Amino acid sequence: MAELRWRTAGESHGSALVALVEGLPRGLAVDIAQLDAALARRQRGYGRGRRMQIEADHVEVLAGLKRGVTLGSPVALLVRNRDERIHEYRSFSRPRPGHADLAGALKYGTRDCADIMERASARETAARTAAGALAAQFLAACGIEVLGMTTAVGGVALPAESGLPGALRRLVEAAALGSAASNEAAALAAVDAARAARDTLGGTFLVEAFGVPAGIGSCMQWDQRLDGRLGQALLSIPGIKGVEIGAGFACASLSGRDCHDPITLDDAGIQRAANRAGGIEGGMSNGATIVLRAAMKPIPSIPQGLASIDLVTGSASTADFERSDVCSVPAASVVGEAMVALELARALLEIAPSDRLEDVSAFVAGLRTRDATFPRGLPPSGTGDSSPSDR
Ligand SMILES: Cc1cc2nc3c(=O)[nH]c(=O)nc-3n(C[C@H](O)[C@H](O)[C@H](O)COP(=O)(O)O)c2cc1C
Repeated sequence: MAELRWRTAGESHGSALVALVEGLPRGLAVDIAQLDAALARRQRGYGRGRRMQIEADHVEVLAGLKRGVTLGSPVALLVRNRDERIHEYRSFSRPRPGHADLAGALKYGTRDCADIMERASARETAARTAAGALAAQFLAACGIEVLGMTTAVGGVALPAESGLPGALRRLVEAAALGSAASNEAAALAAVDAARAARDTLGGTFLVEAFGVPAGIGSCMQWDQRLDGRLGQALLSIPGIKGVEIGAGFACASLSGRDCHDPITLDDAGIQRAANRAGGIEGGMSNGATIVLRAAMKPIPSIPQGLASIDLVTGSASTADFERSDVCSVPAASVVGEAMVALELARALLEIAPSDRLEDVSAFVAGLRTRDATFPRGLPPSGTGDSSPSDR
């Protein structure tokens, strides 16, 4: 089975963003309208800036499909920038604290922070979102659904109603802040207040993956652990400063008895009394819903401008300001959904038996049957099981 690998290219004000996704199985009918819908969700959200009104993202598939179906060859996706002006973009030399400006200027030896901003900008996440939406279509064909939603903005909690993925998705897609909360009014007011104060906000989002069979990821090597891989996927999103799996940091103050999810067996199979583990134990999915939370810092482009220096004159100054969002947490939750879909698809394909979609989806259905009938479905004991004293 081919390894799922993907890369992006493109600058914020270049001609386009590109994603190259290789290793998807042959036979996936790709719905381009769904890819565009993911891009539209990334652009929406109360608190976004004027750029998002300029761009109306659309995916063009340049390679990898024949009559809308994957061939098993690399898929090339292109999202054009309407705001293309990289060669005319003004230079700026007063690095913005919290952005890549200063670290990038030091690393690449330039006084023009625009050169750094072009690639460090979160505009690149449009390409990730397109690639992630493709991975999500593959996962959906295997009965797995990934959903991201805003859970707090500027310290105002937006607790998710519990529910089935389809119902939750409808709530999230209809909500101004992309949450599944019953009332966003206080959080909307917080965004308005930050805008009026010429300030910015961060927040948190949740990504859940439903229908993941047990055994995705591995306990065998550090870099195969699913928790570490999903953590990196989320932490790679610009602005994300913390990730929790399941009960996360709250686990640290719980006793062992209160923290770990008891295991029972009844006629319907193995049951877990709770899901504080967030669907991952020992670096492997355990069959429960995967639950990940991420914390996003406030947008570092602040109209007021924080203290900085001018890299040309060397004098104390105020940081440059580029037009910007007040709050990007709803958009980041869509990028989080994309990143989790890509990493789950990668981990799933590592154990899949074939390069054909029908085989992979049948294999995943088989894993679900295995999970539902375990341990009754195991061969009689004494056929190679290690003894308890080996643990
Ligand atoms: C979808 C998305 C949209 C963003 N929009 C903006 C923005 O308009 N202005 C801004 O200053 N930062 C924005 N950010 C955040 C910055 O990209 C991020 O804070 C910056 O790259 C530095 O974060 P880092 O230190 O984690 O790399 C956005 C982030 C995401 C994920």
